[in-house]
Amino acid sequence: MQEHVHVSGVIADFLAADHRRLDGLLQAAGAHPGRIDSEAYDQFRAGLLRHIGMEEKLLLPALQQWRGGDPVPVAAKLRLDHGALATLLMPTPTRQILATIRRILSDHNAVEEAPDGIYALCDQLPDTERTRLWDALQAAPMVSDMRHSDSPAVMKTLTGALDRAGYRLETVAPSEKGEPR
Ligand SMILES: [Fe+2]
Ligand SMILES: [Fe+2]
Repeated sequence: MQEHVHVSGVIADFLAADHRRLDGLLQAAGAHPGRIDSEAYDQFRAGLLRHIGMEEKLLLPALQQWRGGDPVPVAAKLRLDHGALATLLMPTPTRQILATIRRILSDHNAVEEAPDGIYALCDQLPDTERTRLWDALQAAPMVSDMRHSDSPAVMKTLTGALDRAGYRLETVAPSEKGEPR
């Protein structure tokens, strides 16, 4: 009898591990008082954009197709969070921006990783679809580097995207703002 290769949980594990890796980079970016570690932040930013791209372009469409064109109910909320996160990555990072990203990710990642969340659903896809999704995730491209922009238009977009997702900029103590004292 041919042994069936059991790969249950492989997609969920892979994406949850990416959350942990990104959490570590975000933590490192804000680890030193008085400055933001731009090397860690740049890695975080590129990694989060790639992660969001995997979910928006590969994972959510695969689930929607499997459901006969019907999006998973939580998809709309997740997409609003992604929009807010992506716009938070546009300006030059501050303590306030780091705190707001951390806040959103802690809610957002828990929803995705929940026992009935979208990651668990991916591992329930039929074999062919699950393998196709896995291969596509492995091949997902890095997002090419974009410059930061602090223009009024970007800040306006940011406020709007946060508002639509149900968040606002976190308040941080003046001593934690990240400016040299
Ligand atoms: Fe996400
Ligand atoms: Fe995620």
